Amino acid sequence: MCGIIGYTGHRPAQPVVIEGLRRLEYRGYDSSGVAFVEGSSLWRVRAAGKLAALEEKLAGISPFGSLTGIGHTRWATHGAPVERNAHPHFGGLNEPVLAVVHNGIFENYREVKEQLEALGYRFQSDTDTEVAAHLIAEERRHAPDLMTAFASALRKMHGAYALVMISPEEPETIYAARLASPLIVGVGTGEHFVASDVPAFLPYTRDVIFLENGEFVRITPGAHQVFQLDTLQPVDKKVQRINWDMQSAQKGGYRHFMLKEIFEQPGVVTDCLAGRALVAGENPHGGMQPDTVRLPELDSFPVPEHIHVVACGTSYHAGLWARQLFESWARIPVSPEIASEFHYRDVLFRPGDMVLVISQSGETADTLAALRLAKARGCPVIGLCNVVGSSVAREADAVLITQAGPEISVASTKAMCSQMVMFALMALYYAARKDTLSADQRRVQLDVLRGIPAILERILPGLRDTARELSREFSMARSFFYLGRGQAFPLALEGALKLKELSYIHAEGYAAGEMKHGPIALIDPAFPTLVLAFNDALFPKTASNMQEIKARGGPIIALAAEGVNPPADRIWRLPHVPGLLAGLVALPALQLFSYEMADYLGKDVDQPRNLAKSVTVE
Ligand code: M6R
Repeated sequence: MCGIIGYTGHRPAQPVVIEGLRRLEYRGYDSSGVAFVEGSSLWRVRAAGKLAALEEKLAGISPFGSLTGIGHTRWATHGAPVERNAHPHFGGLNEPVLAVVHNGIFENYREVKEQLEALGYRFQSDTDTEVAAHLIAEERRHAPDLMTAFASALRKMHGAYALVMISPEEPETIYAARLASPLIVGVGTGEHFVASDVPAFLPYTRDVIFLENGEFVRITPGAHQVFQLDTLQPVDKKVQRINWDMQSAQKGGYRHFMLKEIFEQPGVVTDCLAGRALVAGENPHGGMQPDTVRLPELDSFPVPEHIHVVACGTSYHAGLWARQLFESWARIPVSPEIASEFHYRDVLFRPGDMVLVISQSGETADTLAALRLAKARGCPVIGLCNVVGSSVAREADAVLITQAGPEISVASTKAMCSQMVMFALMALYYAARKDTLSADQRRVQLDVLRGIPAILERILPGLRDTARELSREFSMARSFFYLGRGQAFPLALEGALKLKELSYIHAEGYAAGEMKHGPIALIDPAFPTLVLAFNDALFPKTASNMQEIKARGGPIIALAAEGVNPPADRIWRLPHVPGLLAGLVALPALQLFSYEMADYLGKDVDQPRNLAKSVTVE
């Protein structure tokens, strides 16, 4: 949830840390802070609000000359988002002897705090992090050295954390540990980094070490060593090279990351299909073959008899959309599940089940908990994930990487598009293995998929124009319904989620057929409804639901495929995409409507209030 960076090397640490925080701001942004070791002193500057507030404070003081420092952007889990709760926190009995930044939750902090208070420790904040800082300081009073104290304090902390520490006792050293929250070491020449996310140090190095749960690292400018937290035994870790392009993590001329990411979707579909949707005759093992889907990640697993698709938020909506593809094409029953519910249930796993966890970030706490539950119960887990090296990617039995590229905007857009394409590929892959669709039927669907990038490329600018117009027309609305049937229903849920998270307008997604069972009572001339009207067998039913809304004076926008004539006040045309894949062209329209509405209403599009990109706490 929070963003962490640590640096020790030959450069002044302050600009490196601040730049790193800027690239991590999407992980949390209600307060931020930095700390540096300079000789035998520890310096700290913190500010409530966005990073700009911290920078303003730093501009008023002369830059720190230190070559070792840590920084943090916070998304509050304990204590209000005010300066005294911002990280870094100091630890020490009478004076600060160390500073820490932390991401996650220290579950037993209350008991530990009481013990430390009894020993004379004084607390300035309401945070669990300050307890961790004092705990390490207390351990240091008894341990032979700082490293032993660090490890022994962390062993006393239950919960999930990534924690980074500096101390004037070892002025060029940073200690960092992880348990469940991500932490990555950047290996440079004469310098080392540690961060919650690779982009924080990508301009300096592409060589990284992924810390595993229960490991901690000691970095100095010239060296790194990873240890087991329990035994203090050194661990031999491989340095991996990341081939990410930093430019793709920047706005590329768009006003917002979200807009850039929406417009990247044609390329995202192409990238997801590349090497996976093979045209006839392209058999890499020689010989001729019909159009086929290649997903070698799944080859060694039996075809599942039942799939639990588990995710949160937008990824969950993608999972809901996937159900009909798996059912209709591959004849595999699917249970879409909200991760935060799933992992607390006594789920019945049967032989032949598979759990498919979906997560853009690969770090969502509830999704990871579901993954771990399924693994513990012996059910194979496949991860569908956008971040290489993330926890989902590493912990699942196999992982399919969605190829959406870094998604910076808190509102997930291109990630959902990539997930939908991957589901279509998976369903076709299983349809081939089970022979539930003929080669011709599969080719037809693959042709539809291959046509999507060109359609999106063509329609995106026009969709944006209409979205802008409609957002002006409906900007006074206090509430919205989003309705759909069949494949349009998960899209209706997603459209409503996007509108509320970005523009703070109340919006609810419903299965159109459910309106009569209660929600229609809300309809009046001030309550607009956006209806997804695909050109499929369900359209006549959707049209009747629209008539019912019309009869009660409710304004209707129909996001309607070519070939249908919905009874709506405003018709927003989409090209007709046959079969079950129509959602792929409706999705960007919904995203753009929310984007334009939020922008028009002056909201912070890329960083909506109260939200964070990676939800790493339950
Ligand atoms: O990284 P994940 O896909 O696991 O994230 C799940 C949700 O937190 C995420 O989709 C969230 O709903 C988005 N902010 C929606 O735009």
